Amino acid sequence: MLSQKTADSSAFQADRAAGPCEETSRLYEQARALVSQMTLEEKACLLSGADDWNTKPVGRLGLGKTMVADGPHGLRKEVLPVPQVGKQTVPATCFPTAAVTACSFDRALLFEFGAAIAEECRAEDVSVILGPGLNCKRSPLCGRNFEYFSEDPVVSGELASAYVNGVQSQNVGACVKHFALNNQELRRLIVDSVADERAMFELYLSSFERVIKNARPWTVMCSYNRVKGEHAADNRWLLTDVLRGRWGFDGLVMSDWGAVNDRVKGVAAGLDLEMPYIDDYRDKLIEQAVADGTLDESDVDRCAERVCALTLRAKGREPLEHRHEAHHALARKAAAESMVLLKNEELLLPLKKGRSVAVIGAFAMTPRYQGAGSSKVNPVCVDCPFDELVKLGVNAEYAPGYDPERDEPDESLLAEASRLAADSDIAVVFAGLPDRYESEGFDREKANMPKCHAELVRRVQQANPNVVAVVMGGSVVDMGWEAGAKSILLAYLGGEAVGGAVADVLTGAVCPGGRLAESWPMALEDNPSYAYFPGYPHTVEYRESIFVGYRYYDTAQKPVRYPFGFGLSYTSFSYGNLSVGGETLDDGETLAVSCDVTNAGKRAGSEVVQLYVSHRSDVMFCAEQELKGFEKVFLQPGETATVRFTLTRRDLSYYNANASGWRVEGGEYEIRLSSSSRNVRLRKTVLAEPDADQVVPDFRQSAPCYYDLSDGINVPDDAFAALLGAPLPKREREPGDPFTQNSTLSEAKHSLIAQVIAAIGKKEIARRKADGDIGGNGDEELLYESPLRLLASSGTGFGPKQVEGIVMMLNGKFFAGLKHMLGR
Ligand code: BGC
Repeated sequence: MLSQKTADSSAFQADRAAGPCEETSRLYEQARALVSQMTLEEKACLLSGADDWNTKPVGRLGLGKTMVADGPHGLRKEVLPVPQVGKQTVPATCFPTAAVTACSFDRALLFEFGAAIAEECRAEDVSVILGPGLNCKRSPLCGRNFEYFSEDPVVSGELASAYVNGVQSQNVGACVKHFALNNQELRRLIVDSVADERAMFELYLSSFERVIKNARPWTVMCSYNRVKGEHAADNRWLLTDVLRGRWGFDGLVMSDWGAVNDRVKGVAAGLDLEMPYIDDYRDKLIEQAVADGTLDESDVDRCAERVCALTLRAKGREPLEHRHEAHHALARKAAAESMVLLKNEELLLPLKKGRSVAVIGAFAMTPRYQGAGSSKVNPVCVDCPFDELVKLGVNAEYAPGYDPERDEPDESLLAEASRLAADSDIAVVFAGLPDRYESEGFDREKANMPKCHAELVRRVQQANPNVVAVVMGGSVVDMGWEAGAKSILLAYLGGEAVGGAVADVLTGAVCPGGRLAESWPMALEDNPSYAYFPGYPHTVEYRESIFVGYRYYDTAQKPVRYPFGFGLSYTSFSYGNLSVGGETLDDGETLAVSCDVTNAGKRAGSEVVQLYVSHRSDVMFCAEQELKGFEKVFLQPGETATVRFTLTRRDLSYYNANASGWRVEGGEYEIRLSSSSRNVRLRKTVLAEPDADQVVPDFRQSAPCYYDLSDGINVPDDAFAALLGAPLPKREREPGDPFTQNSTLSEAKHSLIAQVIAAIGKKEIARRKADGDIGGNGDEELLYESPLRLLASSGTGFGPKQVEGIVMMLNGKFFAGLKHMLGR
């Protein structure tokens, strides 16, 4: 049986900006007409939100407001705070997080999922969902990894494009975030992400480029951190030169919440909308800057037009009824099709009918299914894995095994779990990362699970060797306990229906189809960013350059626990009939690549065919291989499908920082069709002519460490400086440096003023805690490590003007500062 199942993989085009489409041009004409009737005050006013979630209306011109809400894996729409309970959000479907949906490698699923979230937005009159998040997973420790897709920009960019297309098919806007290089939570408002341009374009910007070009998101959210020394919120290079100039972005850029550093500079740089509303101080600064000639009014007009265009775009959408039941079913399907079967010795899974199963671990009753912080959804209902297993006919009994609030093992819980395991045919242990281990706002310090979880796997295995581990958590965990489990199912944070989804996969109702979108190293220390993550206090140096994830592990031939792209199935697949449509790929050409994949097993299942390109250079350093495309196919037993890809020159190119563009070095390029980064099934070499206008970057003398990774990533200062083409930016504040709005209380802690402010801040935190209004962002570490300018939006009673006064006082101008604070 031969069926032509899949469409061509979307060819990713070369470095060219897309022109605005007709509809967008019309929208901007209307927006321009509106803005031309506004006063400067009205325009400046429009450039910051009305409150936490809305843009401002201009009543006299009939311009309404636009509501935005978090995202990304479900709608988080705030309603008025309830006394004693704190902030409330409307019930919404909590879909699986990006960490797990990325493993689906399934564009159609991501489209469906985006459309469903947008339907909930329509039901709640929300115009823009604040997602997807597609920052690259540089380190397993980033506290926000659960919200991001992958360590690979093709996976992140393709799946995020599908999500955005799904959202926007409902006439709801998506907001691609956090642009850019926001790969750690520690000091995220201050830290300068120092990466060489090649790494930036090949890894950290390229996923954004793909989404901008493929899916034209309505909005982009700039990140908190600095890039090339400047805050993303006032970074002209990022927001205008790259985003609009090179990629042709034609939507609105909003700030991350509280990310604005210098509002006037931001307007000129292309930051259209400041979120959330703080007060009108900064709007006035914009007016003033125009009046005194430091800001061009046309820059203000441009930003105001984009705000108007967003509101016009969102108009005329039909509301919808909630469809929670259908969305819960979709959340279950998405989770089941995404989770990854890592190990299945003796084919322990799927569970055989009639066997007695000990279901062990508190996560089996109260699963971990989403992360903490701004993405936290108020779920409609959460499936309990144990109940769902029973509903599917599993003969199960339960023991908690550990106290979910504690790290230390509890001997009596362990003994009870062991007894149950010994009395059962199979033990399924639910383990992973508790909420307190990972969140927006902080990074993990270690990769381990709580001791009581790891110990539980070991102890249960002693009682019964037939152990299945189900792992829940937002990111890579240390698996020192791996030998204790014959089967491992990685559920990540699978959303409110994770219980049903786990039951589907364990019982075989669904054949596992997930493949890892990030490498699982043997040990955290193996990660290429290990020595340089997180960066503190002022810079984070991306010294590993392009060697992120499998690009490093495969080049260094480092053993990994589970490679990128890996995942088992209950069936098996054979590959054949590789066809490459030519011997060369030269200028103006494309290259068709295809192969046949056959389901060689006895049950229906899916396979993810991954296309990598491998190129060796005599001059520049290269990764062993890079993913350039993937296709997922669903096949009945015995069925064969032809999987097709189209390669362009861009797929062979590297980013040449001197030429500020993509170039093909030329020579041999091996095309590999693989089922993981470590399992090449078919390969063929083609030739490519070099691009003429290039000097191939040669760091063999100045940074030889990048050419031999056998000792890991050890990059001396001078080598990294050579790669950057500039001296290393200053890492910390030196004694005598003036304080600024970006100084932290920790830097000023010896001053009395800082101590007074810290005391006020602590009081506020205590009050909010008492009100139940505290998320991942609210603890004392953040008070000390956040920039002073954040005080203006922290509810401490200080406004932007007071913050300016505080900075003056810290710099020894006590009375002038006090006067400034008190002045109007
Ligand atoms: C987060 C964003 C989020 C915003 C609004 C910020 O702290 O970084 O991802 O969309 O808050 O909640």
